[in-house]
Amino acid sequence: MIYLKTPEEIELMRKANDLVSRTLAETAKWIAPGVTTQRLDTIAREYIQDNGGIPACLGYHGFPGTLCIEVNETVVHGFPSQRALRDGDIVGLDCVAQLNGFCGDSCYTFLVGEVAPEVVRLCEVTKQSLYEGIKACKEGNRIGHIANAIQTYCEKNGYSVVREFCGHGIGKSMHEEPEVPNYGRPGTGALIKNGMCLSIEPMINLGSKNVIVEPDGWQTRTKDRKPSAHYEHTVAIIDSKTEILTTFSYIEEVLNNKS
Ligand code: MF3
Ligand code: CO
Repeated sequence: MIYLKTPEEIELMRKANDLVSRTLAETAKWIAPGVTTQRLDTIAREYIQDNGGIPACLGYHGFPGTLCIEVNETVVHGFPSQRALRDGDIVGLDCVAQLNGFCGDSCYTFLVGEVAPEVVRLCEVTKQSLYEGIKACKEGNRIGHIANAIQTYCEKNGYSVVREFCGHGIGKSMHEEPEVPNYGRPGTGALIKNGMCLSIEPMINLGSKNVIVEPDGWQTRTKDRKPSAHYEHTVAIIDSKTEILTTFSYIEEVLNNKS
């Protein structure tokens, strides 16, 4: 079932999602060639815990990290490891934290050093597709309007949409109904209502849409090993308006200070 949140609950959602946004920005400070993904994961975990939160992915069905770390061809659910980032990589950091009983969820794909222009463009289009999805996320629309907006925008730009993983409702649990796919037809799926909280998260491939899940059951890469990008915001529908509860502004401030 879909849990609709009260305005008071959405205030708590706002705080949890703000913590996630600040965690990604704190971690972003350390992204550079040579840093291991394990180091980034530790920074994120300590930041969440220092701010009274719980790293919600850590231990979730056995997941071994605070962050899902998605380097280049990794689409989703990458493990932190001793792998060092290299100049030209892209790395998606997907973070869920629980604060005061509610979850926040966001993902941002970062450029490491000098990245090939075609891969930079993949990231830009994927990020913009998230905002196209959010524009379609309006009270009275259906989930399929979000899905279709993302798919149309990405395919128009020559990219393909991963089918196996979706956005989702979010609240006391990180995954609630409804599923929010990144492909589909407008006018299908659940009606968007006041009190809904949704995590919208396009996963978009430069090459074909096909993915392979590793034998560990988690780590997922593109079949053709071409890069994949992933951005995610959590939104709430309140007073018939859609508010984005996460923000990339802290991240962008960090990135501007680096360059
Ligand atoms: N942000 C991811 C999602 O939306 C986080 C889930 S990873 C897991 O599904 F490890 F917690 F499963
Ligand atoms: Co999510």
